[in-house]
Amino acid sequence: MPLPILIDTDMGVDDAIAITLALLSEQLSVEALVSVGGNVPLLQATRNVGRLLRALRIDPRPLVGVGLDQHGDTLTDARHVFGKDGLGETDWPALESFEPVPYTKAYRAAIERFPGELVVVCIGPLTNLAELHHRDPGLLKQVKRIVIMGGAVWCKGNVQDSAEFNFHRDPAAAETILSAGRPITLVPLDLTNFLQLDESHLARLAACDHPATKFLASVLDWPMRTGAGDSAPRRFIVHDAAAIGCLLWPELFRSAQLAVKVLTEGPARGKCQPVVRRDVNRQPLSVLTTVGAADFLENMFEVLCSQRFVV
Ligand code: RIB
Ligand code: CA
Repeated sequence: MPLPILIDTDMGVDDAIAITLALLSEQLSVEALVSVGGNVPLLQATRNVGRLLRALRIDPRPLVGVGLDQHGDTLTDARHVFGKDGLGETDWPALESFEPVPYTKAYRAAIERFPGELVVVCIGPLTNLAELHHRDPGLLKQVKRIVIMGGAVWCKGNVQDSAEFNFHRDPAAAETILSAGRPITLVPLDLTNFLQLDESHLARLAACDHPATKFLASVLDWPMRTGAGDSAPRRFIVHDAAAIGCLLWPELFRSAQLAVKVLTEGPARGKCQPVVRRDVNRQPLSVLTTVGAADFLENMFEVLCSQRFVV
């Protein structure tokens, strides 16, 4: 029985890789994709979900929900990293007759279909999840686990030295969810920074004749050429794929039980702080600390290219 998951995504290029990995994995059943503002504005993130589903020719399609955006004049997005459209400035067409439902409906439908079994995977800012928690805390209690790509626990951030993009974009939402006492697996930059694609990976995608590999090779081209953001030139960090990979290949990861708080204001807003004082009543999270990067990438390409490589 595949594990039912809902993916909450701000639809940049690394989100597209993670979602493609989930859709092609037999061990997972993607019940819903919900958009959130972040890498690109909400409307573009929602449009990108449709572009991915059309490019991959996914049928039947998962339920698609449209979530929330963040507001404020100091917010940064990631169009300089992933291109103006968020998917490498490519011309993948939009999905016709695409009618996403409100995110609350998508979450409720997936949770009520798989009470106590659904895993929510958040690979963008936690704005939707925090609002859902405020509106209906009981609903989130029926979620088996929440996997969150976000935060920089001991390493430098990627938005500024102290903060990682998803937590910096909506620190209040991150603090709400990390202190909600739900079973959480945190996948921070401390680990994801080591999952880097290089030219050889791009060549492997280009060598496959598969809708998914054609799509991923094309959306990766611009960010690999520009090397903007936290990747070096001709390299690309697959942050979000780690949030899917930890469900597929848990044996490749090590973790620590750690309570974490997120600073919500001031110059270090978005900073992830381990809570080590005993007198603070906060449930520890499972924080992933290391990953076997070479094995992870090999496993990922076996799924993406739907074949084992003779190496
Ligand atoms: O810091 C990396 C995270 O921010 C990833 O989810 C990436 O897609 C961006 O949203
Ligand atoms: Ca993301």
